[in-house]
Amino acid sequence: MSIILRQNVRGVRAGDGTGRQIGASLSTGTDPGPLSAPYVMKSSPHVAVVGATGAVGIEMIRTLERRNFPVGKLTLLASARSVGKKLTFRGTEIIVQELTHDAFAGIDIALFSAGGSISRDYAPSAVKAGCVVVDNSSYFRQDPKVPLVVPEINAADVASHHGIIANPNCTTAITLMALYPLHKAFGVKRIFASSYQAVSGTGAKAIEELEKQVGQIVRGEPVTREVYPHQIAFNVLPQVDSFLASGYTKEEMKLENEGRKIMHHPGFKASVTCVRVPVYRSHSVAVSAEFEKPITVEAARTVLLQAPGLDVVDNPSASEYPMPLHTSEKDNCAVGRIRMDCAMDNGLTFWICGDQLLKGAALNAVQIAEELLKLK
Ligand SMILES: NC(=O)c1ccc[n+]([C@@H]2O[C@H](COP(=O)([O-])OP(=O)(O)OC[C@H]3O[C@@H](n4cnc5c(N)ncnc54)[C@H](OP(=O)(O)O)[C@@H]3O)[C@@H](O)[C@H]2O)c1
Repeated sequence: MSIILRQNVRGVRAGDGTGRQIGASLSTGTDPGPLSAPYVMKSSPHVAVVGATGAVGIEMIRTLERRNFPVGKLTLLASARSVGKKLTFRGTEIIVQELTHDAFAGIDIALFSAGGSISRDYAPSAVKAGCVVVDNSSYFRQDPKVPLVVPEINAADVASHHGIIANPNCTTAITLMALYPLHKAFGVKRIFASSYQAVSGTGAKAIEELEKQVGQIVRGEPVTREVYPHQIAFNVLPQVDSFLASGYTKEEMKLENEGRKIMHHPGFKASVTCVRVPVYRSHSVAVSAEFEKPITVEAARTVLLQAPGLDVVDNPSASEYPMPLHTSEKDNCAVGRIRMDCAMDNGLTFWICGDQLLKGAALNAVQIAEELLKLK
């Protein structure tokens, strides 16, 4: 990796302090070329949350506060609908402002969580203004110039950014928290997986929809729906995101495509069925993985017990295993039901749960911002 990767456009450039606008490279396609000296991020950066009023945005504000991220100033941006709303950060009310192309002047780090089209339209403006963008949408994830990072796995990739760093898909991030340490030890070839995804993964409106439908059903009223194509209360929907010609959904292919990039494992294969379940918060994934090397439950458990950001909850005789109720609002993911796969050689089957608003979004984004501060 070249030293261009260590620059930070808003931060201090070692030696001259002028800063260099590398952001234009993403919007124009011209690479600014390597710099003679790296940039470092300010120690107390001005941070913006784009999509601050959303399910992820709210968690980003909480996560910045909870982890004592050294925010110098916090700017909250959302649509015109939210202008004037007040959100609290460190005991102080901050007024939400409208996202515009000029909103990024003076901002060092922008955490985007307002959807792919907003990232597409506004992230280049943020980078041009000298800001480093950490983007939660899928828009930039497969761009070769954009690192896609789970800090427990590939934190070093942060240094290769050109102004934008992508946060992975939530189900992918959670699954890899257990799969990657196993891959390092045993070499994963392929997985078969099914997800059980919480409604908050679709955003604030989907949380309201589940709540409303449960109330309607309990009161014997007709069920109304806006967000999902079918009733989600007391139901499961084998569709997350839109369908591709292959019959898989876009969400289902993210585990393979993003998994390859994050694990630096181009041969990784994943056949996934993603299912939306009437759970408010925290995704679960059942995974059967095939490895190059022989694996045992004991050896896998030893690896998983040492994995960062992961708890092993695996005592089936006492009905102890991870559940979304237990991982909600927790930073760590949890893995259990670890057993030899009975249908594959060198196969292991496990169940993993994680709060997709945290490890799948806000926590991972703030961890990436923490990595930015470490760049020297
Ligand atoms: N939910 C998850 O678990 C999760 C996990 C990983 C990644 N993500 C990604 O994170 C992003 C946000 O998801 P979410 O669940 O937080 O959605 P959400 O609850 O629907 O929130 C959307 C946010 O985007 C803002 N927004 C919408 N249109 C806008 C516009 N034209 N200009 C400026 N701001 C606008 C909304 O502002 P208003 O309130 O003003 O409308 C709100 O703050 C999506 O890209 C999603 O794929 C979500």
